Amino acid sequence: MADFETQEITTDVLILGGGMAACGAAVEAAYWAKKNGLQVTLVDKAAMDRSGAVAMGLSAINQYVGLKDGQNTVKDYVDYVKNDLMGIARDDLVASIARHVDSTVHLFEKWGLPIWKDEEGAYVHEGRWQLMINGESYKVIVAEAAKNAIGTDNIYERVFITEPLVVDGRCVGAVGFSVRENKFFVFKAKAVMTALGGAVHVFKPRSAGEGLGRAWYPPWNSGSSTYFTLKAGAEMTCQEVRFIPVRFKDAYGPVGAWFLLFKSRATNAQGEAYMETRRDELEKWKPYGLVKPIPANLRNWLMMLDVMEGKGPIYMRTEEAIQKIAKSEGDEKAAKKKLKELEAEAWEDFLDMTISQAILWAATNTAPEEKPSEIAAAEPYFIGSHSGASGAWVSGPADIAPEEYQWGYTNMSTIKGLFCAGDASGASSHKFSSGSHAEGRIAGKSAVRFAVENSDIPEVDAAKIEEMKKEILAPLDKFAENKKDSSDPDINPAYMKPKMFMFRLQKIMDEYAGGVTAQFSTSKAQLEKGLELLTFLKEDSEHLAAEDHHELMRCWENVHRMWQAEAHVRTILAREETRWPGYYYRSDTPEMKEDWEAFVNCVWHPDNAEWEMKKVPIKRLFE
Ligand code: FAD
Ligand code: ADX
Repeated sequence: MADFETQEITTDVLILGGGMAACGAAVEAAYWAKKNGLQVTLVDKAAMDRSGAVAMGLSAINQYVGLKDGQNTVKDYVDYVKNDLMGIARDDLVASIARHVDSTVHLFEKWGLPIWKDEEGAYVHEGRWQLMINGESYKVIVAEAAKNAIGTDNIYERVFITEPLVVDGRCVGAVGFSVRENKFFVFKAKAVMTALGGAVHVFKPRSAGEGLGRAWYPPWNSGSSTYFTLKAGAEMTCQEVRFIPVRFKDAYGPVGAWFLLFKSRATNAQGEAYMETRRDELEKWKPYGLVKPIPANLRNWLMMLDVMEGKGPIYMRTEEAIQKIAKSEGDEKAAKKKLKELEAEAWEDFLDMTISQAILWAATNTAPEEKPSEIAAAEPYFIGSHSGASGAWVSGPADIAPEEYQWGYTNMSTIKGLFCAGDASGASSHKFSSGSHAEGRIAGKSAVRFAVENSDIPEVDAAKIEEMKKEILAPLDKFAENKKDSSDPDINPAYMKPKMFMFRLQKIMDEYAGGVTAQFSTSKAQLEKGLELLTFLKEDSEHLAAEDHHELMRCWENVHRMWQAEAHVRTILAREETRWPGYYYRSDTPEMKEDWEAFVNCVWHPDNAEWEMKKVPIKRLFE
């Protein structure tokens, strides 16, 4: 076996991940832990300053409710989320985040995040719920507060979390390895919180060799939240609810500022605006087709109908939007000044969060005030904190959650001691960066309470840990033992490198589970075939090989992705309808059905390795 030293760390509250939810959890848990003399430890596979989806920075805070100023109510936000998800949302979880999110935004501002203000000192809104920020350093600011709260001695960076530790149905820690040194880590804790983000590259991206790895969602989140909670035996929800963002084509620049702030239109190549010409289609999807704003998946769908009829390319009419705003300024001089301002804002929008889109504009001689830019539907991602909903099924807050949705500690999964937030918790979409941080705070506080009330840590069998270590390091051994048998280290009859493995997974998902190649369409027969191929892939995962630490991480990232893929395929298969056209379309059950206005949950049982699918009724908080 590869020679890795085992380092054991025992703590009280263990936070897995260093992104928005984890940083929120760290700040809050540190406060309550101090009062109770407890220790909080955090583990991230990367460096917290620039880890997770906010690494590159963001140009907006997408969830701000404005409760104090009476701008909106909690119910308004719950309605927005429920409608956008075609009825599938946990009102209790969404409400709980909505009632706390403003305080998180105020903390961000206190910590130094520049939020745009108007002349009266009020926040500048992008849309009803979104605030404009100068957010290139957003993550650095949020991470700094988290580091200050728990202390850098309690933070382990560049450690890839691989497996949960579960004893008698209680999660008591996690194991992982350093991506830089020969170290295997065993973390033991009274309470564990997982916030390991969503997943990308489960599906084949639009980019091929020329831009390999380029996607909307950051390449470093690989389904670890889903894997960790599934493997622990936790019940999962909304695993079918992927997110397909429509983005500026090829560099995936955000569209929110264009649609909401600049009030831009999107048109097909003939200049027709699909949101108007295809309006009748929305009737088919009522009641949700008729709400405002029109749900994200339906906005996608209307665009896809144009594309399928050969009416593409589709364009964001940046030139039209900019000129329109500038002209509304009145005289020519004011219009010119406004034009300059808008140009700067347009570039900054990308420079703050998707620099590659600004580079692509420069490379293709695109001046947004003169020339429209192509937009397209991206490949599917798993991001329960954005417009998707996949994640663990967690206990709701005691004061508002219906009885069926609570079993003790808020944000605890169905596995004792295992808490989830951000992309790791499901059925509470549209929390974005701010809501994920707020939910992290809620979960962090709850995890401390659990640690106080469950102060023992059941012993983990040392032999079991040794077995896990052997399995986790096996790809290194596989490579070392067999490399001499071929002249090219990437091609060998005895093993498969993680990149090849990932390509195979992506091809299966793309073709059978409704990826870009299949125009986001699938069916029972396709899904069953895909599942069969995934079974072979799973068998072959035993032959993964790694040349170094980095490839060892790649091996496990892809195993995590594979489990995310399986949960997704099984759940689409279980839901016998099409509820989110524009995200995926089931050609054999093409309509939305009333009796499917329910959650589809799944559990993988560790004792017998069987999957169980459940249809769970929706309990509304507000009618
Ligand atoms: P993340 O912030 O992604 O954190 C995940 C963490 O887990 C990271 O620290 C990562 O390194 C770590 N990790 C992953 N796997 C492992 C492992 N195996 N072991 C150890 N650590 C691991 N929100 C807004 O409010 N405004 C916006 O403008 C906006 N734009 C966005 C643009 C893009 C391109 C994307 C992808 C998202 C955007 N969001 C935006 C949403 C926001 O970024 C997410 O909602 C939020 O980051 C989710 O928080 P999280 O903590 O769940 O995940
Ligand atoms: S981001 O996460 O990459 O910033 P994006 O720029 O698309 O996402 O959107 C930002 C916010 O605007 C999200 O809350 C999204 O739901 C919302 N949004 C984007 N386009 C529209 C639209 N056409 N109508 C209503 N809301 C929109």
